[in-house]
Amino acid sequence: MKFFIDTGNPGEIQAAKDMGVLDGVTTNPTLLARENKPYKELLAEICRITDGPVSAEVTAVDAAGMFKQGKDLAKIADNIVIKVPIIKDGVIAIKKLTSEGIKVNVTLCFSSTQALIAAKAGATFISPFVGRLDDISTSGMQLIEEIITIYDNFGFETEVLVASVRHSMHVVEAALMGADIVTMPFNVIEKLLNHPLTDIGLKKFLDDWAKVKK
Ligand code: E4P
Repeated sequence: MKFFIDTGNPGEIQAAKDMGVLDGVTTNPTLLARENKPYKELLAEICRITDGPVSAEVTAVDAAGMFKQGKDLAKIADNIVIKVPIIKDGVIAIKKLTSEGIKVNVTLCFSSTQALIAAKAGATFISPFVGRLDDISTSGMQLIEEIITIYDNFGFETEVLVASVRHSMHVVEAALMGADIVTMPFNVIEKLLNHPLTDIGLKKFLDDWAKVKK
């Protein structure tokens, strides 16, 4: 399973890369706005750090505008992937962008029918938002299970990119289901390592080692 980091912060991206677990980056308008830098320069910096796909989202909501913005964003670096929302005009833009060889990450997916349409349109990645579904008392991970089954049934090559991840159990369940990718904030990546028995065990080993005659 690939690990993407969901952030616009170059320091966090570099830290995940240094851990050796970074396969790609997802950004969105909210995440980029937090960094308070010119967005093209910021995306170029992120692409330089990252040896993998970097998703950059269009903000136009009409097909022609999305296509134009997507083409423009794709010029920033070879590893840019264009994020397009799953609305009617988005579907037209997905087809146009992919037909020009530009990779597309279909975002704001909250249903298996949206995921099915995205795959039929040729999406490279589908991003179902599990945390936001959980927030409204609907199982985000059940949606992941449905999408994986549907894609397997028909051999769609669109990769399932689990997004809006809030905690380690989202990652565990995604891994058990065989999701292709999980994108998560840096604090979730760090938490994947935490275990109190590791801390207790390490402390005991070090305390005992201090008693060894040297
Ligand atoms: C995915 O690509 C999105 O950027 C992100 O996962 C949304 O997460 P949120 O629901 O925590 O904002």
